[in-house]
Amino acid sequence: MSQQEFVFLEGEYVDAKTASIPVRTHAFLYGTSVFEGIRAYYNAEDDSMFIFRMKEHYERISRSARIMCMEMKYSIEELCDITIELLKKNNYKTDAYIRPTIFKKAQKVGPGLYDNPDGVLIFTCPLGDYIDLTKGLSVCVSSWRRLEDNAIPPRAKVSGGYANAALIVTDAKRAGFDDAIVLSENGHVTEGSAMNLFLVENGKLITTKTTDNILVGVTRNTIIELAKEELGIETIQRDIDRTELYIADEAFYCGTGAQVSPITKIDNRPLGNGEVGPIAKKIQSLYFDVVRGKVEKYRKWCTPVK
Ligand SMILES: Cc1ncc(COP(=O)(O)O)c(C=O)c1O
Repeated sequence: MSQQEFVFLEGEYVDAKTASIPVRTHAFLYGTSVFEGIRAYYNAEDDSMFIFRMKEHYERISRSARIMCMEMKYSIEELCDITIELLKKNNYKTDAYIRPTIFKKAQKVGPGLYDNPDGVLIFTCPLGDYIDLTKGLSVCVSSWRRLEDNAIPPRAKVSGGYANAALIVTDAKRAGFDDAIVLSENGHVTEGSAMNLFLVENGKLITTKTTDNILVGVTRNTIIELAKEELGIETIQRDIDRTELYIADEAFYCGTGAQVSPITKIDNRPLGNGEVGPIAKKIQSLYFDVVRGKVEKYRKWCTPVK
């Protein structure tokens, strides 16, 4: 990128090329930071950009921070304002990704979260669809297990916890799959490597409960609401057995990164007729209209960058 790019680091907008943190920073040594991934969607027709459900993402980071004994230096409103300002400065003419991070910044050895002040970093970058959303994904069930609430709570988006996702996605890709669905220690389905999972059975959506060792996704909650309000489709939140994956009519992933990504094969077994299912397609299309600010009723979720 030729134009100068900024990041927000410790209260200042600084050049992305030179922004740095010291090598002994606690978050780097122990994975003690919490973060969010937020998308901003660019509309070339009217040169507008909307940030999707920014407030909900900052509400989640404040919950993650609370779990990790971190203090929020800025209010949610302030973080939203900083993010808008940063995107204005970076002036992308394409879809973008926003990565806010609150990190433990003591220069000390030893994992403790006490005597350990908190830093704030927000960076942004251009980001399109990194998963092919038109063809269905072929995924497997991972041999790794999901983190547990009593180990590294998946409900908190803690950077150190993403070693779990890294192992899961790496082994899945090396085995020729697009991603993997992860089971909990008790053998139930949780979610994908870094996205939530929905199944379709008899015209209804099924997803895991918020207490099933998942990150409670902003996209997940969006889909539950849109499916009910706009398509009259109910979502059942319950335990899911592994073998239910193989007999579902349809399945799809959802998340800020994954958006709505249909799955057509699990452990080499085709779902339904092996094509992208009609409900996944409908939800995907509605989701993209909503995030791009095309549906008036849901403009409340889209913050304009202006
Ligand atoms: C582990 C995990 N699950 C689910 C999600 C989906 O969450 P959201 O829809 O809030 O992006 C993410 C992040 O994108 C994630 O990292």
